[in-house]
Order: sequence, then structure tokens, then C-alpha cells
Amino acid sequence: MHVLGHLTVEEFLRDYWQKKPVLIRQAIPGFEPLLAADELAGLSLEDDIESRLIIEEGKTGAWEVKKGPFTESDYRALPENKWTLLVQAVDQWVPEAAELLEHFRFIPSWRIDDLMISYATDGGSVGPHWDQYDVFLLQAEGQREWRVGQMCSEKSSILEGPSVKILADFTENERWVLEPGDMLYLPPGLSHWGISQGECMTYSIGFRAPSTAELLERAIDTALPTLTEDNRYSDASLSLQHSPGEITDDAAARLKSLLVDALSDPALLQATLGQLMTEAKYEEQAPTFDTSEQGWAETVSALQEAEQWTRHPQARFAYSINDTGAAFYCQGEIVNLPASAGKSLEVLCDEASYDSQSLIEAFDDSHLKTLLTSLVFCDLIVPV
Ligand code: SIN
Ligand code: CO
Repeated sequence: MHVLGHLTVEEFLRDYWQKKPVLIRQAIPGFEPLLAADELAGLSLEDDIESRLIIEEGKTGAWEVKKGPFTESDYRALPENKWTLLVQAVDQWVPEAAELLEHFRFIPSWRIDDLMISYATDGGSVGPHWDQYDVFLLQAEGQREWRVGQMCSEKSSILEGPSVKILADFTENERWVLEPGDMLYLPPGLSHWGISQGECMTYSIGFRAPSTAELLERAIDTALPTLTEDNRYSDASLSLQHSPGEITDDAAARLKSLLVDALSDPALLQATLGQLMTEAKYEEQAPTFDTSEQGWAETVSALQEAEQWTRHPQARFAYSINDTGAAFYCQGEIVNLPASAGKSLEVLCDEASYDSQSLIEAFDDSHLKTLLTSLVFCDLIVPV
């Protein structure tokens, strides 16, 4: 399904992605909500599910935030209106929500974070704010007015008091009322404010983008084991300097090229992204990747118990190929494989589901057999 309405994927990527907002009327014509408001509230009662309530005129002040899990009495204590329930990672609990995310694979799947669903009463809003991440806001039920304003950064002032970040200043540039099936794309940093008109439900398709600090830490961790005492600062191009105590621009330039060299191997950089971007959203709940002791015969018979298999809802897969070989990434781990594994890894990472017989045939190679066995016995792929 194409969800970009009047835009082609190429136009969207060229003109809007990470650049400016765009409203797509009837991105999904006739869209039917995937779950009712009381089912969403039901999820927020569960221990393992991350949820929040934001109450504009709360008992403790403006923009009160409560964290789930909630109880029925939390709901009875809410005011008549102007509150919002937000439930994170619904795709991990509702298969139809995971299917909805499949339509956003025109962006690399390892950039997709989760599907958050909000339910708001009349006038409900989480206030004017900005996010670090791209988001598609799909109107699922009822109407919501969205206002977009100025670009923001960590320097933008926020209200003191509320534990949720509310902008102290919001300069509106545009506003639209979204109907069910309409979708608004917002780039990171753009301030926005969505106010419910009557009761409404909004689905946020959110993305992940690691910070430079996280990437640097991971890249260094990956590079360190490859370095020896022979890798060292050197200055064969040294010339006489006026002040011997000065650390010159030339010295800084030598260090820069040493650091760039240490981190420039494409396989190392792919592994940095691959490991970071496949970390589970909730590590304590998600299956972990481990090498299984089971044999291939056990794997084949386990796979044959179901015709169709799919990724575990909390599993995150990605792969890379370069001159030195291929690598598979899962739950923050890396498995190095020969380049010939590329086609099988593509199936594993890109297909929404797999036919067990095709999987057995595609993984008929000693390295790949070990990988598939681990995926089956660690519950990283599961019967549909
Ligand atoms: C909402 O659905 O109310 C909030 C989504 C957002 O502004 O990021
Ligand atoms: Co937001």
C-alpha cells in the first residue's frame, strides 16, 4: 500500500523527509482504527506496556504527567476533558499495528522505532512541543487540529514545572484539521501542537536516530579491539615550530586523520549502526540473540510445525554487505557471514513473513544453518 497520497516516494524523500512538514489527505482512504479506545486503555493497565496520561489541568498543576501501568481508579479520577492517553510500541502487542508499520519501509526498517497510539478527550493535547525524531501522525478516529510552528533545539525555552517538555513560546505558521485517514509528516525539531476536536485517536509512526555521542561510543568500542600498540600518533611531516609548547593546527590535523583512519572501515561503520539500531526497545522483555546448541535436524522439524513464520514482534533485524563479507545484526548483536549469505539475509530482514520450506532451502549452507537455528530456538522468528 502506498501511504504518501499525491507524492511519490522519490518526491517525499527529496522534498520533505527531514526537511519540512507535509499534510497527506487520505493517506489511507477509509482507514479503520485497529483497536477501540477501551482496548487501548486496557493495554495501559498492563505491567509490560509503556503508557502515559497527560492532563492539561491536573491536580498537581498544568500538564500533569502520570506514568502507567494504570488502574481502573486512575481512569475514574480523570477530569471530563483535556487529557490524553499515550501508549508506546503498540506494534509489539497488536499484530495489525506491526502490519501498519510495514507500509513505511520506504525508509530503512532499522530507522523505524514504534507505533504510538494516543487517545484524547475533547480539547486534549500534549501541549506545544518538539521532538528529536521524525514522525508520521496518522489520524485514526475523530478529528484533531494540528498547528505547526518554529524549528526548535535544546536551546529553545521550555516551561518550568511540568515534567513533560512544553515550549514556552510557540509561533504558529500553519494549521490543519485532520480527518480519519489523513496523515501529517513532521521533521525532527519542528514545533507542533495537536488539539483534539471531540474524542480522537492519533497513531504516531516514530523513527529512531542515534545521537552522535551514542554512535561515537559504539564506533570506538568496535574499533578498539582492532588497534595495537603500533597504531600511534606520528608526525613524520614535522617542521620547526616557533613555540615548542604549542599544540599547533598541524598537530590537530594529524590527530584528525589518525582518528578518521581508525574509524573509516565501512564494515566497522556498518557494524556500529547495525548493532545500535537493532537493540530491542525494551531489552528486559525482548528475546535475546544467542548461539543455539541445537542441530539442523531439530531446526528443520521445528520450522515444519508451521507453514508461515515471521519476526518476533520485539525482534529487530538488519544486515550489511561489503568487500569483506556480510553481517547480520539482531538485538544489538553481530553475526559475520560470507558475502554469499546476502540474498538469504535480505529475505530475513525485508520480508514480512517467510514460508518455512523456502526458509529451509534458502539457509542450506553451514553458516546460515547455525544462524537460522539460533533464530528459531531463541524465539526471534516465530510461527504466524
Ligand atoms: C499525540 O498523539 O497527541 C501526540 C503526538 C505528538 O505530538 O508527537
Ligand atoms: Co510530538
